Amino acid sequence: MANNKPENIRLSDDGTAVVIIDQTLLPKETKFLELSNPAELHEAIKMLRVRGAPAIGIFAAYALYVIALNLDANDYNTFLTELRKQSDYLDSARPTAVNLSKQLQRMMKLVEDSSQLPLSHIRDAMGAEASKIQQEDIDMCLSISEYGLSLIENGNGVLTHCNAGPLATSMYGTGLGPILLANERGINLHAYVCETRPLLQGARLTSYELSRAGVACTLICDNMTSIVMKEGKIDAVFVGCDRVALNGDTANKIGTSGVAILAKYYGIPFYVCCPSSTIDPNCETGADITIELRDPNEIKELYFKDPIAPDEVPCYNPSFDVTDHSLITAIITETGINWLN
Ligand code: MRU
Repeated sequence: MANNKPENIRLSDDGTAVVIIDQTLLPKETKFLELSNPAELHEAIKMLRVRGAPAIGIFAAYALYVIALNLDANDYNTFLTELRKQSDYLDSARPTAVNLSKQLQRMMKLVEDSSQLPLSHIRDAMGAEASKIQQEDIDMCLSISEYGLSLIENGNGVLTHCNAGPLATSMYGTGLGPILLANERGINLHAYVCETRPLLQGARLTSYELSRAGVACTLICDNMTSIVMKEGKIDAVFVGCDRVALNGDTANKIGTSGVAILAKYYGIPFYVCCPSSTIDPNCETGADITIELRDPNEIKELYFKDPIAPDEVPCYNPSFDVTDHSLITAIITETGINWLN
């Protein structure tokens, strides 16, 4: 895997569009989308065609570059003003993953620091920066995976929630990285995958990535987590993360905090894996993290042949929750294992 280029996000052959796998169609269909106009780039993030905290940061960096290529501006000030608007527009697509705003800010900083350069040079520098962001993510994922691997023993059962694999990052992933790397190194392990209601990232994406990589895995409904833990099938939990507050609270896919509470009850280590760029210095605690609320129809209709609940019944659909730092055994970043408890 280490020698392959990521296939989830790349530039088109002519360099004028961002190509992604439409993750909403997996595992049934592998369809590549070529996106270049701002509305479709924004929609791809909002509708989770590209998803996972690091992946949407990388995608947004390429997206801003592609938008810059097409921007109708002949002078620096017009270019900067228009690009700021487009960056804010992309940033508004989803609120919880800090990677989206951080990578857009990084791209805008480059533009702001380049006022003396011709626009063509600035555009080239933006393309190079986006590609650098992706390469850094590849390196960070590998490093996180190596640290995580040191916590896995032959014969272990591990559990993961949502999808924190190559589709959500660049390669290996964060939460899934130690599991994929362990398998590559010949370590025998069994992965339990929570389906992850309502958008089923575990069922559709994680079990797909694990089975394609040849990892022994079993899919469970989210409400089966307690029984598999009680039955002694789980030695460790590995998950990804969308934002880390300064006190160690972490936001991840809805249901993650419940898994952490169960892990604590059963005495199972709970590891959060993420690049250090996911730490948000502006959030003191998890209470400062904005939780995305999504369309109620994702609960009632999206993955069902017919709606499963009466039309008139309201739904509450928070997409993320915050895991209290007291429940987290360690946060694993590219710099090492940070023990919390
Ligand atoms: O709504 P999603 O699918 O973008 O949520 C993704 C997650 O919660 C992941 O676990 C997280 O982004 C980490 S990805 C390495």
